[in-house]
Amino acid sequence: AHKQVLAGKTVTITAGPTREALDPVRYITNHSSGKMGYALAEAALALGAKVNLISGPVSLTPPTQCQVYGVQSALDMHQQALALAPQSDIFIGCAAVADYRAADIAEQKMKKQGDELTLTLVKNPDIIADVAALTKQRPFTVGFAAETQDVATYAKGKLRNKNLDMICANDVAKQGQGFNSDNNALTLFSAEGELSLPLTCKHKLALTVMENIAAKLI
Ligand code: PMT
Repeated sequence: AHKQVLAGKTVTITAGPTREALDPVRYITNHSSGKMGYALAEAALALGAKVNLISGPVSLTPPTQCQVYGVQSALDMHQQALALAPQSDIFIGCAAVADYRAADIAEQKMKKQGDELTLTLVKNPDIIADVAALTKQRPFTVGFAAETQDVATYAKGKLRNKNLDMICANDVAKQGQGFNSDNNALTLFSAEGELSLPLTCKHKLALTVMENIAAKLI
């Protein structure tokens, strides 16, 4: 059994991809499987927390003791996150949120047209930045950064620009880690510095991440 360092704390975690509809049968999404976010939920439970899991569409079974909020689009996830964040001690944005959605969702299935088709996309709200911008009841806010180059530079930029307390950076260009893998490696950045967590299974990694967050709350 683990030391119950998160007893009495509420942790809200976003996980998985978002799905941005184009018409009734098509959507834009990404390769997030939800494995990292679900492992964080499991780790937070193991450390004694109450856990809210806001999940995009994935094919995983969530831990039975957590409260699951299923969502599809970034707008759905944004609404659910802002509803739960003020009653949370810790908020972790592990979801791979689509940065853009279709400007208009076609009501009927789009017909095949000419040789080119142009889609107009509009920016989605930044969920984690809006959570971190809460002035009352702001949780300890942890983001993830999925990068394919200059990982540390981009991650530190997101830590600062989104006003986060911590960011967990992963190199998603490397084989055998990141999106849809059972394993991952992370570097945690915060105001105090950085900590590298080498490649291991997402379950073990998630426990180390949650223990690090718990240590920062005290
Ligand atoms: O789900 P798996 O297959 O296990 O893969 C895990 C993972 C690679 C998806 C995960 O480890 C990860 O990196 N998640 C974040 C993916 C991502 O979208 O990163 P980003 O660098 O684009 O976004 C930075 C941060 O802003 C993230 O905390 C993200 O949740 C958040 N964000 C982004 C856009 C947006 N509109 N709203 C947000 O809150």
